[in-house]
Amino acid sequence: MSIQLLVIAKEGSADWEKVCAYMNRRLSTQLVYTTSEAYQILRKEPIGIVLAEYDLPKVNGIKLLKKIKAIKPSIEVIFLSKNITLTKAIEAMKEGAYDIYEFPINPKLIMTVIGKAIEKQSLYLEKEELQRKVKQKFDPGKIIGRSKTLNRVIEVVSSVAPKNVNILIKGETGTGKELVASAIHYNSPRAGKSFVKVNCGAFSEGVLESELFGHEKGAFTGAITARVGRFEMADGGTLFLDEIGDISLSTQIKLLRVLQEREFERVGGNKTLKVDVRLIAATNKDLSKLIVEGKFREDLFYRLNVVHIEIPPLRERKDDIPLLVTTFINKLNEEKGYKIKGISKEAMRILMNYRWPGNVRELENAIESAMALTDKEIIQSTYLPAFLLMPSSQEVDFYQIPKNLTLPEMEIEIIKLTLERTGGNKSKAAKQLGIGLRTLQRKV
Ligand SMILES: Nc1ncnc2c1ncn2[C@@H]1O[C@H](COP(=O)(O)OP(=O)(O)OP(=O)(O)O)[C@@H](O)[C@H]1O
Ligand SMILES: [Mg+2]
Repeated sequence: MSIQLLVIAKEGSADWEKVCAYMNRRLSTQLVYTTSEAYQILRKEPIGIVLAEYDLPKVNGIKLLKKIKAIKPSIEVIFLSKNITLTKAIEAMKEGAYDIYEFPINPKLIMTVIGKAIEKQSLYLEKEELQRKVKQKFDPGKIIGRSKTLNRVIEVVSSVAPKNVNILIKGETGTGKELVASAIHYNSPRAGKSFVKVNCGAFSEGVLESELFGHEKGAFTGAITARVGRFEMADGGTLFLDEIGDISLSTQIKLLRVLQEREFERVGGNKTLKVDVRLIAATNKDLSKLIVEGKFREDLFYRLNVVHIEIPPLRERKDDIPLLVTTFINKLNEEKGYKIKGISKEAMRILMNYRWPGNVRELENAIESAMALTDKEIIQSTYLPAFLLMPSSQEVDFYQIPKNLTLPEMEIEIIKLTLERTGGNKSKAAKQLGIGLRTLQRKV
């Protein structure tokens, strides 16, 4: 046990040396006779419990207690006093003392009390540690962006996180779907429980089912032991199903049942298991199209898609790029000890003109690579990855017409592209297209 005890005593009031020797056999104990020494130790050492005389010269118990709590609120203070009155006891407890006892001191009794105080404190420390971890994992500031569209995403995240609804996140690769899912979990009342991830696209049908629901020993050849599935692991917490568009129709039926009835069986098992899991699913596919093609169940879609969050690709919110670049530079400076101050105008222009098919992840990788290569304080364009420097990678000012498009389809493509280029600004887009705003709105 790393928790330590500090005894603050009045000289000659009891056989303190003997008492402390007794305590020290059970937990690391220090004895001081002045409060100034006590405060010094409390500031520097991992003291968890203080055993103090209530009536010390110059300072009364309540004052001492307040001072100790101000140094470290988690410390438990146990008092000893020559004459306890009811008012004194009540006042001490009200101020947060753990307990108060009368002399003569009974080391055995005090040791039991200390044991209980330590238990209480461990719980407190565990909670603190958990809160610290949660904060570290998700501090809302981690979703970086200043564009209108991303701010809208952040707003939706904060408003739905505490509500126990299933969520479907749609977005291209690298747009931050997992980041958003974890943000939701760590801002929900389930934050203290597990956030479990499954990449549905990474498993074959049979393996995915045993991954999700677990299996019993002997369920299939190779199932030598029973296995707990991700649903069980996520009980009380959140299950993040990535690439949900990739699951087979038969797995979809099983998933639907868990969503509807909150129960399932392990593969090869006949015991019905109950779970309380919040589902967040993500996909970069167009599920409505899969529904039309008969590849995705509509009923499952509605169960998953209670709230829909769409993260736009980076090329449609280019005003996020400068802030993301600064954030990544700062983060990598800290992590890798670099001393890079910024990026040249030319390099930024190149970053702004690229289409970023790999979105934020691709941008982060490009910055990391440039930072590793550069030996200057400012990243020059020559240090950017080669693919960014090729003329073909930069957005050009002509539009290539995809093959096999009908005229109406072409119109849709051109409207989409213009809106993309104007950052979703409809008036600007209408002007560029040479049509009225009303006409554009109708077509959109
Ligand atoms: N808005 C953002 N602010 C800060 N970092 C971001 C942002 N969006 C994405 N990232 C970072 O980009 C990387 C990719 O994000 P994430 O893994 O969440 O994407 P994804 O949509 O799940 O991608 P995939 O579809 O490929 O799984 C991560 O390192 C993530 O932290
Ligand atoms: Mg992902």
